[in-house]
Amino acid sequence: MTDTIHIAQAQAASPCTVVIFGASGDLAKRKLIPALYNLRACGQEVAPNEFAVLGFARRPMALEEFRETARVAAARFSRLELDQKCWREFAASLDYLSGLDDPDGFRHLKERLEQIEAARGLPPNRIYYLSIPPEAVPDCVERLDTAGLIAKPGAANFTRVVVEKPIGTDLDSALEIEGLLCRHFDESQIFRIDHYLGKETVQNLFVLRFANTIFERMWGARNVDHVQITVAESEGVGSRAMYYDPAGALRDMVQNHLMQLLALIAMEPPISLDSDAIRDAKLNVLRALRPLPQVGARDLVVRARYAAGVVDGEQVPGYAHEKGIPPTSHTETFVAFKAAIDNWRWAGVPFYLRTGKRMPARGSIIYIQFKDVPRILFNREKKVPPNALTIRIQPDEGLSFEVLAKQPGLDIAIRPVRMNLRYDSEFSGPSPEAYERLLLDVMSGDHTLFVSAQFVEKSWEFVQSILDLWRDDVTIPMHEYAAGSHGPAAADKLIQADGHEWLDP
Ligand SMILES: NC(=O)c1ccc[n+]([C@@H]2O[C@H](COP(=O)([O-])OP(=O)(O)OC[C@H]3O[C@@H](n4cnc5c(N)ncnc54)[C@H](OP(=O)(O)O)[C@@H]3O)[C@@H](O)[C@H]2O)c1
Repeated sequence: MTDTIHIAQAQAASPCTVVIFGASGDLAKRKLIPALYNLRACGQEVAPNEFAVLGFARRPMALEEFRETARVAAARFSRLELDQKCWREFAASLDYLSGLDDPDGFRHLKERLEQIEAARGLPPNRIYYLSIPPEAVPDCVERLDTAGLIAKPGAANFTRVVVEKPIGTDLDSALEIEGLLCRHFDESQIFRIDHYLGKETVQNLFVLRFANTIFERMWGARNVDHVQITVAESEGVGSRAMYYDPAGALRDMVQNHLMQLLALIAMEPPISLDSDAIRDAKLNVLRALRPLPQVGARDLVVRARYAAGVVDGEQVPGYAHEKGIPPTSHTETFVAFKAAIDNWRWAGVPFYLRTGKRMPARGSIIYIQFKDVPRILFNREKKVPPNALTIRIQPDEGLSFEVLAKQPGLDIAIRPVRMNLRYDSEFSGPSPEAYERLLLDVMSGDHTLFVSAQFVEKSWEFVQSILDLWRDDVTIPMHEYAAGSHGPAAADKLIQADGHEWLDP
């Protein structure tokens, strides 16, 4: 067995203060606080020598209450078990301030930051993590600037802003938000999160493709028959009706996660590991994404919503009967579509993408089916199954490659067998959570795993064309699927029309 080859160390992070705007919210509790604790608990190798965390939200809260809420959240959601000593050290670096909805609050924020930096001997390197509803972002950014809290790019100390999805609700609003961000920050200061990019298996896609000659050689129209990307959730809308109903599956999942996976699967090799080179290569995929045709677009996209059904042995209501869903709602919880990438590598290869809620199990997979072997030797009488590569992004991260093998015996009998790599059995120790990786990258100023402004725009252009199609043609059906099924029959027909079947996670 060969030794592990270190290509690049996790970059050194700079001492800084992370301000979590919306620190009393769900994302802060479930993801950000646990991730920051894990960075601290992992030791000095990856965590910055020193960082402080300032929670900033609307509601007044005593510091002790904030620290206790954070402890409970970390105990529940942290990847690493809470270590008393480590937690005490981390908790000592946690502070809280209310007044996020108050213009004066930003003056207090400045004062508090200066106090924290003086007390802890930290330079004024500041990361503003905007974990607030999108509609609160414009005021927040304007007030940061007015309060003199944004350092010029290239200054001795940095200001970085982290923006959560969704960026906008359509192309126009996304451009508006981008315009706002660009007026107040330089692109080098903006980190747009798509937490999918922080997942180990998503990063491994890049290694798989470009560190293995065999894959790179067969990656394209010459060898690939078609590609499927499925991101399935077993959950329903839960308590997030207020957020989800105005959005739907197309905005919530396709515009960001599915487009990112598509770009990673289809991109050309970048000229270096530099973040601009990688982001450019991904952007080129969206530039080559074929726009929906003027005629026949409705046959390429399927939308649906879940009806009542059974998930994990439990009877669950249909979407229309979920708590908080208005009776007039016309929101899709499932989308499937067929895409094409007009470049030399992928000419003629269909890409099928689908995502939905209340599917039988949570699972994200990419399935690459290779072309049939010629009908000469083993493929003459009866069609033998083609080779296939399945990349499991979550859960059970790993990949499997299906090849044909001779079944032992006197006959010549062929059977598909699976070469399987499971991350958890091959690599010991738990992987860092996506938010740990991403927060560390913000601290070290590495943009590779963040979304560029152009990618946001291109991705919205494509999604907007589907939104326009649905708006302009009211005869396009909203299909139904039973909760606990793999989606509507119409999605099966979409892929069966080309002689394929979905591979279910
Ligand atoms: N939760 C997730 O899993 C998740 C996943 C991906 C992206 N996101 C994005 O992350 C952001 C935060 O989500 P969340 O789920 O944490 O939301 P949340 O639970 O509703 O928390 C929102 C936070 O923002 C503050 N806030 C609410 N309305 C505000 C307003 N009008 N002005 C200023 N502050 C306001 C709240 O402060 P008070 O509580 O003090 O009122 C709270 O701290 C959103 O942009 C969301 O789309 C969330």
